[in-house]
Amino acid sequence: MRILTGLQPSGKLHVGNYFGAMEPAVRLQDEGEAFYFIADYHAMTSSQDPVALRENVRELAVDFLACGLDPARAVFFRQSAVPAVNELAWLLSTVCPMSLLAKCHSYKDKTAQGIAANHALFAYPVLMAADILLYDSNKVPVGKDQKQHLEVTRDLAMKFNDVYGAGTVVIPDPIIREDTAVVVGLDGRKMSKSYGNTLPIFGEEKPLKKLIMKITTDSTPVEAAKPTDGSTILALYKLFASPSDFAAMVKAHEQGGVGYGDFKKQLADAYWDFFAPMRVRRAEILADPAFIDRVLAEGAMRAREEASKVLERVRRAVGLL
Ligand code: AMP
Ligand code: TRP
Repeated sequence: MRILTGLQPSGKLHVGNYFGAMEPAVRLQDEGEAFYFIADYHAMTSSQDPVALRENVRELAVDFLACGLDPARAVFFRQSAVPAVNELAWLLSTVCPMSLLAKCHSYKDKTAQGIAANHALFAYPVLMAADILLYDSNKVPVGKDQKQHLEVTRDLAMKFNDVYGAGTVVIPDPIIREDTAVVVGLDGRKMSKSYGNTLPIFGEEKPLKKLIMKITTDSTPVEAAKPTDGSTILALYKLFASPSDFAAMVKAHEQGGVGYGDFKKQLADAYWDFFAPMRVRRAEILADPAFIDRVLAEGAMRAREEASKVLERVRRAVGLL
């Protein structure tokens, strides 16, 4: 079974990305042949900045490896290292109705946010379909926000097989992570870069712990019992603390006598400890810059090998060979 997913290099990873995307991807490495890539072509649909692109790709590679991606088990590569994906995107676009793309909410959301309505942004789901079909992927783990793109992928794959013959491309199944709860941000809304309420995974201890001290709370006095429902501190603490520590903090809320400042300090310590092994791994990776290059070069080679097999089959089916 082949499992494939892509992550956009869009700046510093936050705790929401970790629990919503990285941690599930790392777990799935054991369940099949994992192909994980950095979606650099996709990142260019919303920002055209060469310096930032280079930096963000590098940072995502380092962070993903630090979080447990194992290059001995997973094929890890940059999307653009396999330019053949553009050829498959072109072939898929010949069977893609305009109306299929016009209804995609991600395009509508992004243009509503002020991102330029360029052709690449509109065609984004076709390139994503090509990412998936180029590697005969069976399972594609994604967040809920990508559900519609997976539907487009399946539509295009079935249409392609209708036109060019059954088995020309493999129809993939999404694994939608419905179960991963939305991670709340420091202000109690969904943690998201666009809300400016994120808690990064990596960074300096003092400023990161300071962010936690800024979490919005109500003004219940120290002595009084504190609400547990809808508590941002508890929601985040649950991610990092052991079940018994979490239960103890819930109890302390109910009993009163402990102030929010103390709860935040406990949260900050649990958060810092949770990511300690990843920080150690990250420092090791950063100390050996050639390691990243080696991993990505090796991944690119294995990805290209697989892609060329699939593309040859597709080229034959459509009459290019
Ligand atoms: P983004 O960079 O916001 O597109 O996020 C990349 C992926 O991280 C998404 O597809 C989600 O799976 C995951 N993610 C981002 N923010 C959160 C959050 N607050 N809670 C859970 N998962 C998240
Ligand atoms: N669009 C995805 C996102 O923003 C990233 C992505 C690109 C992807 N190509 C993919 C995910 C193929 C899964 C499969 O999160």
